[in-house]
Amino acid sequence: MSITRRELLAGATALGLGATPLASASTRHAGPKPKKLRLVHLTDLHIQPEMGATDGVNLAIQRILALSPRPDFIICGGDHVMDALCVDSARAELQFDLFNEAMKPLDMPVVSVVGNHDVFGWGNKCCLAGDPLYGKAMFEEKVLRTSSYRSFDRGGYHFVLLDSIQAGKKRSWRSVIDDDQLNWLANDLASVGNRPTIVTTHVPILTAYTQYTSGTMARPNDWIITANGREVQQLLSKHNVKAVLQGHTHVLESVHYMHTRYITSGSVCGNWWRGPHLGVHQEGFLVCDLDGEDFKPQYIPYGWKARV
Ligand SMILES: [Fe+2]
Repeated sequence: MSITRRELLAGATALGLGATPLASASTRHAGPKPKKLRLVHLTDLHIQPEMGATDGVNLAIQRILALSPRPDFIICGGDHVMDALCVDSARAELQFDLFNEAMKPLDMPVVSVVGNHDVFGWGNKCCLAGDPLYGKAMFEEKVLRTSSYRSFDRGGYHFVLLDSIQAGKKRSWRSVIDDDQLNWLANDLASVGNRPTIVTTHVPILTAYTQYTSGTMARPNDWIITANGREVQQLLSKHNVKAVLQGHTHVLESVHYMHTRYITSGSVCGNWWRGPHLGVHQEGFLVCDLDGEDFKPQYIPYGWKARV
């Protein structure tokens, strides 16, 4: 799929999801000087009918709507649903319907990146591969309504949404930015000049998660960190990338390397609705304030109390 088509699709998605369209990246060369902009990175919702999850997501949405100033738009960082990998289609669709219902009160654009748990059937490849919505098709139809990686411009900034989830040979999935996407990313970033840029991915590009959970000498795998994250980081380092917003590990963490902050933005669900993850990472979301070259992140716990 060409860059032009992706850009068109990104614009079409914004028109469908929010009152204010997100400008396609085709206007990037004549883009305005960056102004103040506020976005929310809302990741790892893991919505489901059980454990009060729907009430928890609704509470987070109400907390977002109470922010002052209001966010200009929302980026959902993946794992919108508890799990679509290992369930039948009815259960997967039920969870995506819950997600869409929960987002309805938001009166600003919402864009998404795919999480591993958003992929339908990859955990049951033997039985579900013939389903028309198998794999990322269900997520693309129900949530994305566009391609799984893309970019857009807004308020003088450039935003890149990556797809970090690919099918695995030994396991159901692995995290890697595939070659086509990496080439697209290089061309996309080269075309925006020095415009301040924010990148979003589900699985982290850089993280120290394994060091503080398993031990400083422990080796991460491609279920924890993107396999070619180093190549991605080296590419990003050549451009004015202010932040990479990450999800997946449900921790609040920032790796500040060179001029880019790799921020893992906690999670909406904490320890999958059983309380703060690792006992310390509260249920919340990240508010990002951009003002020219300044990037200020702030984590907002929304006050969820686990019911188990
Ligand atoms: Fe998750």
